[in-house]
Order: sequence, then structure tokens, then C-alpha cells
Amino acid sequence: METAMPEAPPETIPAAPIEPAAAPPDSRGDIVVEIDDVNFSYDRKKDVLRDITMDIRRNEVTAFIGPSGCGKSTLLRCFNRMNDLIPGAAITKGRIRILDTNIYDPAVDVIELRKHIGMVFQKYNPFPKSIYENVAYGLRIQGIRNKSVLDQAVEESLVAAGLWEEVKDRLDASGLGLSGGQQQRLCIARTIAVQPRIILMDEPCSALDPISTTTIEDLITRLKDQYTIVIVTHNMQQAARVSDKTAFFYLGELIEFNDTLQIFSAPHKRATEDYISGRFG
Ligand SMILES: Nc1ncnc2c1ncn2[C@@H]1O[C@H](COP(=O)(O)OP(=O)(O)OP(=O)(O)O)[C@@H](O)[C@H]1O
Ligand SMILES: [Mg+2]
Repeated sequence: METAMPEAPPETIPAAPIEPAAAPPDSRGDIVVEIDDVNFSYDRKKDVLRDITMDIRRNEVTAFIGPSGCGKSTLLRCFNRMNDLIPGAAITKGRIRILDTNIYDPAVDVIELRKHIGMVFQKYNPFPKSIYENVAYGLRIQGIRNKSVLDQAVEESLVAAGLWEEVKDRLDASGLGLSGGQQQRLCIARTIAVQPRIILMDEPCSALDPISTTTIEDLITRLKDQYTIVIVTHNMQQAARVSDKTAFFYLGELIEFNDTLQIFSAPHKRATEDYISGRFG
């Protein structure tokens, strides 16, 4: 599927931080994604997201939860403007700022924006290429040909994705020959090889067994030191385990957004409580 391919990555290996590095914690500078009163429509008639306002902070894991169809994936896809690929789809109100840029400003270079935002999908989607070439893919698009640079980036990305030990002796084997959990970690390695600032994950574990799921959850926890992560999940335990903040959506609205501990111990809204305790959804 075309949308599953990584977007054209940066021409050079990343990219110094593009927001101020020394912002004190909890200042505005700590906000990586700022969503301000956003509505979104696929047909310009009915808004499937309404009045969404939230801030996503650097080096945090933010979980999006809520019943099927409530708009979690739609909002996630607004962040890298992937919904632009759908004719008629548009933000109909409000503004999204990412890394201090209004990302729907007509002057924004979408390719440039997407360099900073990696995405991992529910259905792992390695290319029909070797393990090595899967990870090197984005770097090659950037024009990097130096073998030692590529070797090092491939190894570092596979180590970071927790896959190196399992594949280091067969880097030339096809990525498609790996187990599902390994393929998903390969996709994560491919995503982080180009060092995005933000990683979007849409139900990254829903096709995986419990052991692979635990591996990916551990990985997410480690990756947040370097990345800002937004994860959509239907697994409440997973949201509770991996995220710092949790956003509960229902019928296109953000019902409650708070520290994960608060959401799962004492949510403020009845609907949140009903959902996380399995009474609906
Ligand atoms: N490409 C599309 N064209 C038109 N409507 C869409 C499209 N994708 C999603 N929708 C609609 O937008 C609403 C939100 O869908 P979305 O996929 O964001 O929900 P979700 O919360 O991710 O659900 P799930 O948990 O099932 O993945 C739904 O009503 C859905 O039918
Ligand atoms: Mg979805």
C-alpha cells in the first residue's frame, strides 16, 4: 500500500533539533504537538473530530484510547498530513502546530514535515528486501552511500529496536522471513534509522502475540528518552503500562486527557471510567 511506504526522508542525517534545546520542563517549549480547537471532516459535511484541543510533550508517550470509530487514527494521521491523500478530507477548524510550525499553513513543505514524523502501522509492512536494506532504505533515499555510515546506522537502529541480536548473522535475509514481532521491530528500526522527532504508532501490537507485545512495549519505554511517541491502542493494560499521558476519545470528541495514572485510577468523567473498565466499547 502506498501510504505504508516511509515518506521521503531527510537529505542529510538528521537534523539538529529544530526547537530550542534548553526549554525548562513544562514550559511551552516542551510541547511538540499543539492541537488547538480542531475539527476534521472526510467529506466537508460531517466532522468526525470536533473541538480537539491538547498538547503532546517531548519525550513522553501519549496514548490515544477510545471505541472503534471515535477518530484516534484520523487524529494521528493529521499529524503527518497523511489524510491529505484522501480526496475531500480536511481540517475544517482550528490549528495544529508541530515543532513550532503550523503544519497546515500553505507554505509548509509536507515532505520536510514528514522527515520529522515516523509512523508505525498495525500491520507490519517490511519491504520485500533484505533486513539490511529495509533499515537502510530511508538513508539511501537521502543519498547516503558510504558503506560504513550505512552499516553503523543499520546496526544502531536494529540495536535500538531490540532486534540486532536476533538478526545480526542474517542481515542479507529477507525481512519478510522474520516472525511478526520481528517484522514489527524491523519496521520500527526502519522508522528510527532516519531519526524522526516524533513516532506515531497506530495499534502497533494488535497483530502480535503477548511475548512480542511485551518486547515492543519495553522498546517504546526505552525509545521515549529520544523520541516523542503517540500510540493508539485498544489494550487498556498497554496504555497503562507504556504511556505517560492518556487521551480518551468518544464519538469524535476528546472526553478526557490527563496523566495516565490519573486516568486509570480516578478518571474525572463517567464515560472514561465506563470505557476503561470495559462497560462499553
Ligand atoms: N478514509 C475515510 N473516509 C471516510 N471516512 C472515514 C475514513 N477513515 C475513517 N473514516 C471515518 O472517520 C471516523 C473515525 O475513524 P477512525 O479510523 O479515525 O477511528 P478509530 O478511532 O481509529 O477506530 P478504530 O479503533 O476502529 O481504528 C469513523 O466514523 C470512520 O468511519
Ligand atoms: Mg484506528
